[in-house]
Amino acid sequence: MTIEERKNLLGKVFSPTSPIKEESFFRGRIEQIRRIVDVMNEDGQHAILFGERGVGKTSMANITCKRITNLYSVKIICNSTDTFKSLWERALDEVQFTTTTKGIGFSPAVKSNLVSLGDRVKGKTEINPHDVQLVLRQFPNDKFLFVFDEFDNIKDQHARAKFADLIKSLSDASTNIKIMIVGIGENVINLIGNHQSLERCLMQIRMPRMSDDELKEIITKGFQQMEMTITNPAIQKILNFSSGFPHYTHLLCKYSIKNALESNSIQVKADELNLAIRQAIENSTEQLRDSYSKAIMSSTQNSQWKPVIQACATCDADEFDSFTTTDILKEFNRITGKDSIRENITHNLGKLCQDVRGLILEKIGTGRNIRYRFYNPMMKPFVLLNMENDE
Ligand SMILES: Nc1ncnc2c1ncn2[C@@H]1O[C@H](COP(=O)(O)OP(=O)(O)OP(=O)(O)O)[C@@H](O)[C@H]1O
Ligand SMILES: [Mg+2]
Repeated sequence: MTIEERKNLLGKVFSPTSPIKEESFFRGRIEQIRRIVDVMNEDGQHAILFGERGVGKTSMANITCKRITNLYSVKIICNSTDTFKSLWERALDEVQFTTTTKGIGFSPAVKSNLVSLGDRVKGKTEINPHDVQLVLRQFPNDKFLFVFDEFDNIKDQHARAKFADLIKSLSDASTNIKIMIVGIGENVINLIGNHQSLERCLMQIRMPRMSDDELKEIITKGFQQMEMTITNPAIQKILNFSSGFPHYTHLLCKYSIKNALESNSIQVKADELNLAIRQAIENSTEQLRDSYSKAIMSSTQNSQWKPVIQACATCDADEFDSFTTTDILKEFNRITGKDSIRENITHNLGKLCQDVRGLILEKIGTGRNIRYRFYNPMMKPFVLLNMENDE
């Protein structure tokens, strides 16, 4: 492979800002795939795929549609103005087929027309779960998978309730339709509401952050596809920064490879990666950069905003990524070399939970059980990148 060919391939192998669409670039997630396949094979079962922002939900949904070849799959992205009606109009519009009609007269020409299922609900003022079923029931020999991604965007509470009703009645009637709901949420209730009747027919599949082994697979297989190499310490550093988010793994691999190729090299070492870290900060999303700069903003030289945030990024955290004031204080004293007490940082922590300081932290629990965590989970890797860059 020439340098030029590698440059052309790079955007496909490492795609920090777009979900995976092709199998050959999809890594790990064996357990989640197994569970989704189970749902698809089980009559009357549907799936809800949920997890933090950026863990790989859309990629998983894309690969599901690719793998499940015995179903006609349609993927819709929900937005904030969508209603049950607008979503199903779009979804049914995507199901297209051709019909043939014969003209009149001797040896008439056969005309084929492209029609969509959406035509069957056009003009209706309202669409209800029953209407969706009626339309799809006309194709008993076909099987459909409808994926609704970014379901958390939907503001209309009626839409969620109608989805719940639809799923419930689809399961009771065990039809030819599968539904998969995908979105950001800590649990299913965040996403679709509290419907106990859904418990048995809606399989909850949580997408956790990726494990270091899975992220390592993204790196090593990606480098193999690029026919390039990367040193072990560089791999380790990328894993540390990623904190389970594949976005950062893709971002750092992409930039460091670009840097290597610029100097006609096919090996990534510390130099290429360090430069990549700086570039990654420059290109991080505006929202992260904005709230970080609000958080560290200060008119005095020895302000402690920055070390407090750094302490939050490096201190011990529990499985939910939350930490206590004690955890933060220990790190804060290590970073600053001081011997501060809790009261010295409580003001900072309180303000960092507010808009004026970029809403960088979120407070959970009350009284003695107060814990903190990063409001946007991607902030932690971002702070780590900045710390490295400061050094
Ligand atoms: N299994 C995977 N293998 C390789 N790369 C992945 C995998 N899953 C996700 N990625 C990469 O991680 C990044 C985030 O993935 P994706 O957009 O699918 O996440 P998401 O959970 O849908 O994000 P959001 O919450 O913003 O919708 C993308 O760059 C994608 O290419
Ligand atoms: Mg997504």
